[in-house]
Amino acid sequence: MLQLRSVTKRYGSLVALNDVSLTIARGEFFGLLGPNGAGKSTLMSLVAGLRAPDTGSLTLDGVPITAADPSTRVTLGLVPQHVALYPELTADENLRIFGALYGLRGADLRARIDAALEAVQLTDRRRDPVKAYSGGMQRRLNLVAALLHRPKLLLCDEPTVGIDPQSRNAIFEYLERLNRDGLTIIYSTHYMEEATRLCSRIGIIDHGKLPALGTLDELLAQLPFEEEIRFPATAATAPLAAQLASRGECTSENDTHRFRPHPEFKLSAFFTLAESHALPGRLFTSQRPSLEAVFLHLTGRNLRE
Ligand SMILES: Nc1ncnc2c1ncn2[C@@H]1O[C@H](COP(=O)(O)OP(=O)(O)O)[C@@H](O)[C@H]1O
Ligand SMILES: [Mg+2]
Repeated sequence: MLQLRSVTKRYGSLVALNDVSLTIARGEFFGLLGPNGAGKSTLMSLVAGLRAPDTGSLTLDGVPITAADPSTRVTLGLVPQHVALYPELTADENLRIFGALYGLRGADLRARIDAALEAVQLTDRRRDPVKAYSGGMQRRLNLVAALLHRPKLLLCDEPTVGIDPQSRNAIFEYLERLNRDGLTIIYSTHYMEEATRLCSRIGIIDHGKLPALGTLDELLAQLPFEEEIRFPATAATAPLAAQLASRGECTSENDTHRFRPHPEFKLSAFFTLAESHALPGRLFTSQRPSLEAVFLHLTGRNLRE
């Protein structure tokens, strides 16, 4: 449905997207996972036709994406990273404006607005000005505003930043339902939990590049280890941690060591080593690594930095 070929975008001397190629199939729930400044919003704005790439091409159903082409606008919905609503106006009034931009009016528009407000549980607040809404309510309205014209591809740019868990869940469930009903979604986030829960395929983005792309399982399979071992960082475990450095990656955070063994360093050898330091087995937990580990492995940085 969507194809990016060797797309590069610069702002002056800053390369915001660096030779990015990507294909998204109809029906995908695609996650763009990366920290602040990675290039997520830039990629979204290019797909939405709001900006043009310096080099490379973007096509939607085989047709080049350009801001001038109205078919791009009709096929796409963009939920911008920053809430784009009129604060003085009510939810109803905001949605009427968004609908009118897409040529919707009359009974059809009213029915779509009713359904949209119902879907994100804002019906009883529809006549209140948006400035009186909580952040989560504004985010929910911002989302349905992009859907009134029933696009085939929805771009969600960090739609849950800074909202309460209840609104976050409402947004997740709504997006999952839309995707089941056939909507293709590109969802950007810096929360690996969101990408893990929602997305059928994930692209890791960092410094304008996509160093990895695949399903969660495919991304985890890129790691040179299958288990992560955690144990408390104390004076007693310090000598062990020091020895592990040459046998894998050992990092520590919040008083916990995380050890990712090199493939040739087996779990049995690990416990022999722990025993030689007189450390009991109950100190150690092993778990399947997360996307955080994939990000660290690929970029050498933590997602949260
Ligand atoms: N309009 C702009 N002018 C100059 N630099 C920009 C502009 N928009 C973004 N950037 C820079 O481009 C890089 C990518 O930004 P952005 O796409 O917003 O990343 P993300 O959405 O992943 O946080 C960042 O270094 C950012 O500072
Ligand atoms: Mg952004």
